[in-house]
Amino acid sequence: MPAVFRLVPDDAIEILDQTLLPHEERAVRIERVGALCEAIATLRIRGAPLLGLAGAAGMALAAARDGTDDGTLKRAADMIAGTRPTAVDLGFRVREALAFALRLPEPERVAALWQHAAQLQRDRTAEDAALSGFGAELLTERGAVLTHCNTGELATGGVGTALGVIIEAWRRGTLTRCYMTETRPLLQGARLTAWEVLRAGIPGTLLPDTAAGSLLASGAVRAVITGADRVAANGDSANKIGTYQLAALAARHGVPFYIAAPLSTIDPHCPDGSQIPIEMRDPGEVGGFGEARWSPAGVDAYNPAFDVTPAELIAAIVTERGVLWPPFEDGIARAFAERATA
Ligand code: MRU
Repeated sequence: MPAVFRLVPDDAIEILDQTLLPHEERAVRIERVGALCEAIATLRIRGAPLLGLAGAAGMALAAARDGTDDGTLKRAADMIAGTRPTAVDLGFRVREALAFALRLPEPERVAALWQHAAQLQRDRTAEDAALSGFGAELLTERGAVLTHCNTGELATGGVGTALGVIIEAWRRGTLTRCYMTETRPLLQGARLTAWEVLRAGIPGTLLPDTAAGSLLASGAVRAVITGADRVAANGDSANKIGTYQLAALAARHGVPFYIAAPLSTIDPHCPDGSQIPIEMRDPGEVGGFGEARWSPAGVDAYNPAFDVTPAELIAAIVTERGVLWPPFEDGIARAFAERATA
């Protein structure tokens, strides 16, 4: 299989085109910032932490291909960060790379930005591994879990966030089955999570998003765990559309609902979920998929890519620095303060 994400220093980025999975494993070579923005907007590359890595690499690409002066780098940063508004990692990593480059003399910027992206890729792997270990400690009682969207290597470049926890629990022998929603309308669960779960050798069961209430009512699931695209300072968490209803249903049935996300997905400047920008996507995504169309042409559709789960429905947030418990304001502030002094 081609690498999910590969840096070709001074030259290009190679990604696995996620829109073709699971039927075709094709690498796409990206040589210009415009092509990277197209790949992000169309979800060829996706998932909050991996978007952060792509954003940092995009800054290296801009410097290598378009120029190293401040104006060129600032324009590239605005362009890349503007492609998808909800995942905080994207804008955060782009601004971080920009600030890093602007501190350097121009002749050093290209090499330094590629090295910066390469370091971030190594850090991603380490963060996911740490987060997965902490999360697996929440799943010590044997049983099945339910997850939503896609949070594996395809979404992070490491082992994954929620799916990393699931894989680690399977490795430790405490997971019996992974239930996964289809995740309409772009089917990240049915296409991507099902593919990753099968590859990990985990017994997996796919369900329509609409079957989650029935599954939780049956008692088959002992925890729900998802990723996040932006966690506010009070713990309110934006994640793939449909996450909020899973959290509400989990509460209704007394099942713990966990978020797994690295600190780069927590936005300490965003006070609560009402301030999280939610990406609205093309209504055409709801009335069909790929070439297939099942709704009449011209019908309008409500198609937010994400929703916000209020902190009160979240039992814990798993990060690479440990598990945060309610009230999340305190734990989040402490985790950032500890990281700043580490
Ligand atoms: O629109 P997507 O596919 O980029 O949305 C991704 C998700 O919502 C994931 O669950 C989230 O980014 C967590 S990724 C570890």
